[in-house]
Amino acid sequence: MLKSKFCERVGTKYPIIQAGMGPFPTTELAIASANAGVLGIMSSSAIASQDTMPHIYDVFCKAAGAKREEGPAAVIEKMFIKAFEQTKDAQGIFGVNVMVSAEMLPWAKIVIETLIRLRNANPEMKKRFKVLYTSAGDPLPWGETVKANDLTWAHIVPSVKGALRCKKAGVDIIVASGHESGFHTSWEPVHSMILLPAVVEAINDDKTVVCGAGGFCDGKTLAAALLMGADGVQMGTRFLATQESDFAPLWKQSVVDAGDRATIVARGFVGPARWLKSARSDLHAQNTLKYSPGLYIGVPDDDTPQETIDKLTDYENDSINAAMAGDKENAMMAAGECAQRINDMPMVNDVVQQMVGDAEKILKGASALVG
Ligand SMILES: Cc1cc2nc3c(=O)[nH]c(=O)nc-3n(C[C@H](O)[C@H](O)[C@H](O)COP(=O)(O)O)c2cc1C
Repeated sequence: MLKSKFCERVGTKYPIIQAGMGPFPTTELAIASANAGVLGIMSSSAIASQDTMPHIYDVFCKAAGAKREEGPAAVIEKMFIKAFEQTKDAQGIFGVNVMVSAEMLPWAKIVIETLIRLRNANPEMKKRFKVLYTSAGDPLPWGETVKANDLTWAHIVPSVKGALRCKKAGVDIIVASGHESGFHTSWEPVHSMILLPAVVEAINDDKTVVCGAGGFCDGKTLAAALLMGADGVQMGTRFLATQESDFAPLWKQSVVDAGDRATIVARGFVGPARWLKSARSDLHAQNTLKYSPGLYIGVPDDDTPQETIDKLTDYENDSINAAMAGDKENAMMAAGECAQRINDMPMVNDVVQQMVGDAEKILKGASALVG
């Protein structure tokens, strides 16, 4: 049986986080993941997409069992209640990913207020709806809210500097996200093999949990993360390609079909994003290089004319809508580098069991390497 600080702190069976993957819903995926003994994370950022990406917003409402007319706060509440109800039998542990960047703050407020209200009204909800997972912003201002409401707090960072800021803020679970990661990836290409041990060394205390994200997808990579001193891993792309995942069939199958060197980095709504390679994403990378080249050297596209940014954003939106509609020719789909190591689309529980079983075998056998 794998043991780690992660399981003690979070209360899950296994030291694995199923990643939030907004603006797409991960509601069904979070339910399946929590029921499989890992930390299931719902995505909430689609709450901001009602007007800008109506198609994605509709899919988000449907996953929550709500209608768009009910309004964003009610959709979020229904999503939380659905996850709570459907993880009761297995006593699954779950949480929500909330983007806390400046432009998302009004939406973050709605999500976090709803989370706190529901938890305070129901002790059982409080016990299992445990984790507030903040991303894409400064963690420091959220410390008081988290502590006052007895939440377990996770935050994702792409650097040692970010990890140290999390430690200062009192974050419980620091997720170090390497450049292999799917979709929004770091501005500077530091990969998990470098970032994860560097964050483990920099944090170096008994109370903070450190997890790796980016490239983790099986028993080998889970064992490697634990050997590098991490307490667990977070996986997006691996869970995206599962039976229960909320993603469109074309998207899931494209991860399974991806081969050697399957991804490319190009612009993605707000910064660098990792996409599965296709004619459409190749063209997008060429346009990024032409119109927003700073993205490849870590410089935000502040000097790019708004009209050009709008065109690139429209292209991304249209391509994602095509992916969701099953239009392969015009689709562009985000995924991590590990897509090239994923060749099947199992049930979430089978992914978890296989992964944990393999990691245990590897870790037990590792002592044989020492003469
Ligand atoms: C399609 C997709 C959408 C994502 N959206 C978000 C998001 O909204 N917020 C976030 O913090 N991370 C997001 N991520 C990153 C994941 O949370 C996770 O850190 C990443 O997928 C880990 O790398 P992996 O894909 O190699 O497993 C997304 C990833 C994917 C593949």
